[in-house]
Amino acid sequence: MAESFSTLPLRVNPDRMLDSFTQLAFIAATADGGVNRPTFSDGHLAARKWFKEEIEKSGLEFRTDGAGNHSAFLPASVIGSGQQAPLAKTLLLGSHLDSVPNGGRFDGALGVMAALEVLKTVKENRINLKSRTEPSRSVNLEAIDFTDEEGTLVGLLGSAALAGHLSQKDLASPRGGRDQLVEGMARAGLSDASMLSAARPKDSLAGYLELHIEQGKRLERAGIDIGIVSAIVGIWSYRLSFIGRADHAGSTTMDDRLDASLGASAFTLAAREMVMMGFPDCVVNVGKMDFAPGAFNIVPARADLALEFRSPDEDEFNRLDAALLELARKEAGRFGLEMRIEFLGKHSPSMMNETMQTAFATACDDLGLTHVSLSSGAGHDGQSLADLCPVGMIFVPSVDGASHSPREFTKWDDCVNGANVLLQAVLRLAG
Ligand code: GLV
Ligand code: MN
Ligand code: MN
Repeated sequence: MAESFSTLPLRVNPDRMLDSFTQLAFIAATADGGVNRPTFSDGHLAARKWFKEEIEKSGLEFRTDGAGNHSAFLPASVIGSGQQAPLAKTLLLGSHLDSVPNGGRFDGALGVMAALEVLKTVKENRINLKSRTEPSRSVNLEAIDFTDEEGTLVGLLGSAALAGHLSQKDLASPRGGRDQLVEGMARAGLSDASMLSAARPKDSLAGYLELHIEQGKRLERAGIDIGIVSAIVGIWSYRLSFIGRADHAGSTTMDDRLDASLGASAFTLAAREMVMMGFPDCVVNVGKMDFAPGAFNIVPARADLALEFRSPDEDEFNRLDAALLELARKEAGRFGLEMRIEFLGKHSPSMMNETMQTAFATACDDLGLTHVSLSSGAGHDGQSLADLCPVGMIFVPSVDGASHSPREFTKWDDCVNGANVLLQAVLRLAG
């Protein structure tokens, strides 16, 4: 028997969401189909401005905070009175509008556009949200764009500030450099003091839900619609400097050089071997290697490496950390180099909330979508918030697993599936 119309689960408006997504994808678009929106670049500021205007056009309230997070806010209202409910908690939905340099147009942007679309759908259907666990409390909805998720400046900056985890120390030696941070904050009208004032009380939040592209191949290979995230990996970063001596590249014999490039290169190769052999759940990346003075005819006196490694497990992290630093010192010693190690910050691995995972699974079942539980190898703002409020996250398939690249692509039907699961999870948690 055909399902009657009234029993169909509520869905988002896919055309309206596509229209917003497309407008956003044009901002700081690159010729190869990606976007270039590193935090507080002109392109990123333009995307933030567009988001603010889009919120205002849709009749939702625009909000911002000291960390520069931008939000659409839909207040819970006391039924019939039109006033804001006094005991309301806020359920956050969102992601980020910044990108890596020459990134893709789905990473972060999809989650923010889907969150905004969920608010529009709830608003136009005049749904009053209430906490399932505390029925006396109404639930506000907020679609948030977190500042600097990607780590151009600090990484998970807006979410760490909101969660109260950001410290003066984090701002003093950010992984993107202090000068860049100060300049970026000034461009956005922010400061250290404003950043540190953005923490929200734990009691004000009902939870955080995020839709994101998978950025890997597991869903596509398995032909599954939705990934329900069980845990997010942790990320540690360092700047490693191998220090040698500048010399004439032609007249200095090969055995008389203190060549910083050799320590850096040997370390990079050995770190890969070490992780593959001894740390199967971890990954390591040297994403940048700068030689100084940096000329064809000078033996490199210094090599600076941007080192990042990730693990789903805190104990394994500690072991890997010790092993990588020991390896760096060993390779420096092998080539007669001095070693400097600068710790640039860490984000711990986090578990996703069980109730949120169940709400997502039920939402998928009701929408006739297949789902699987998986972990996230990418970092996400949810890991900043996991000890503040219940956090849940879903993935939709990435074509060929491509991400942090203009090749990033997700079929629009999959994007819409993700937005519908997000909407239905909200209704399950607070409907
Ligand atoms: C963010 O996308 C990260 O995992 O680096
Ligand atoms: Mn992202
Ligand atoms: Mn990313």
